[in-house]
Amino acid sequence: MLRRKMAALTLETKLKMPSGYEIPQLGFGVWQTPARDAQDVVTTALATGYRHIDSAAAYRNESGCAASILSSSLPRSSIFFTSKVPTTGISYNGAKAQVAKTLSVTGLDYIDLMLLHAPYGGSAGRKGAWKALVEAVEEGKVRSIGVSNYGVHHLDELETHIKELEEERGGKGMGGVLSVGQWEIHPWCARRDIIEWCAKRGVVVEAYSPLVRGERWGEKVLKGLAAKYGKSEAQVLVRWSLQRGLVPLPKSVTPGRIKENSEVFDFELTEGEMDELETEEYDPVCWDPTTSPLDNRR
Ligand SMILES: NC(=O)c1ccc[n+]([C@@H]2O[C@H](COP(=O)([O-])OP(=O)(O)OC[C@H]3O[C@@H](n4cnc5c(N)ncnc54)[C@H](OP(=O)(O)O)[C@@H]3O)[C@@H](O)[C@H]2O)c1
Repeated sequence: MLRRKMAALTLETKLKMPSGYEIPQLGFGVWQTPARDAQDVVTTALATGYRHIDSAAAYRNESGCAASILSSSLPRSSIFFTSKVPTTGISYNGAKAQVAKTLSVTGLDYIDLMLLHAPYGGSAGRKGAWKALVEAVEEGKVRSIGVSNYGVHHLDELETHIKELEEERGGKGMGGVLSVGQWEIHPWCARRDIIEWCAKRGVVVEAYSPLVRGERWGEKVLKGLAAKYGKSEAQVLVRWSLQRGLVPLPKSVTPGRIKENSEVFDFELTEGEMDELETEEYDPVCWDPTTSPLDNRR
């Protein structure tokens, strides 16, 4: 199980990815943040100290996020921007086109992290989309690449695809490097199998819906820990994620909550409390493509 010592955790903590680049451990999600609000919301997040913005083509707010990044007085290199190839584009041509489109609509020179949003497109589609991301890294358009919502069977398949691409493209490293995976992870959906798969390979694990989209407020253990530490239940959940070594991506459009979700570095859950909070339930609150079969062509 991944654990981090409190001393190492601050708002500035970064994790090293297999690509060699670093990723700020506390991220900021923008799914369902309206395009017209994205610039202001991201500007608030940057002013609060977040340096990692998680967007996607499907969120239709990449350009607002980028407008904030580009108009900020912070150096571009200090801000980490993620986008994702949509489920309808999981193919060589689809991923190639999406990288070009994201660069074009954002005006960014490069994308820090590009993920395949879900393991759709069938085996050939996934392999082609991955190859397009590998080429985008080689062309300097994208720095690190990864996947989202892949089950262990999709991850094993990706490893095979990487080996095949190495053979087809001229050797070691030519199949690309899996740096990050993103999944719904919280105490009611802990995904231990996937975390173990990634830990063995040094793949950074991002946790989406880390606040369980607000659906678990008032749960006994969570409420008790919040009272014990004088923190909100949201702060306890973000802290749980960070202490598990994950990269949580809490989302909010509310300035007070954006700040609250970042104020999680002045307390530490004990190992016993970490375990007590984590349940045996498998209860995702979002979609769950991890269970889709390998031949799913959607
Ligand atoms: N790869 C994928 O398939 C995938 C899927 C889902 C999400 N994600 C990423 O993960 C991010 C986070 O996930 P999510 O948006 O599903 O859910 P979340 O972060 O678990 O929860 C967001 C909800 O909680 C509310 N909230 C935020 N802070 C709060 C606080 N301190 N107290 C009370 N309520 C609070 C927000 O309301 P307000 O905004 O109104 O403040 C919003 O309704 C997304 O934005 C996206 O970047 C990725």
